[in-house]
Amino acid sequence: MAPSKLRAFAIAGAVIVSASPLSLAAPKGDAEGVAKRIAPVARVELAPASAATAAGNRGGEEIYKSICGACHDSGAANAPKLGDKAAWAPRLKLGLDGLVKSAITGKNAMPPKGGSDANEIEMARVVAFMANKSGATFKEPAAK
Ligand code: HEC
Repeated sequence: MAPSKLRAFAIAGAVIVSASPLSLAAPKGDAEGVAKRIAPVARVELAPASAATAAGNRGGEEIYKSICGACHDSGAANAPKLGDKAAWAPRLKLGLDGLVKSAITGKNAMPPKGGSDANEIEMARVVAFMANKSGATFKEPAAK
């Protein structure tokens, strides 16, 4: 299982377990058993989430500065410049999801993921960051 899925599972598990004593349907013994079984997973998987700048959990601006700005600051290779609302307006019609897909796949002189090792959520953050500097009001996905 991918670490992000594991983490989501661990969080979901923790929520269910903490809620279960209130539920008449779940016998108390079961909830404690589940809590013990998932506790090590929850500890291991939740720890990296606090390291906001670890690879795999970087913020949009951070990735932009280290990677995307190489082309999008100057407009190299006809990249739409950061803050150039006219250049971005037709692209923003794709919506955040469409732009993220396009940036992950690559487009003409834009290499897949801008040549970076960013994961999907990091790509969503950096695309939202760029678009929002250029006329959009997308929600930058939060840290997990
Ligand atoms: C090597 C130069 C280069 C780098 C590095 C680069 N881009 Fe681009 N990007 C381009 C070019 C060129 C285009 C315009 C492509 C076109 O429409 O022909 C573009 C377009 C885009 C678009 C609009 C796509 C669309 O469908 O209109 C997004 C979003 C984008 N880049 C995001 C990023 C992100 C995020 C990064 C960093 C992870 C990045 N780019 C890094 C060159 C680059």
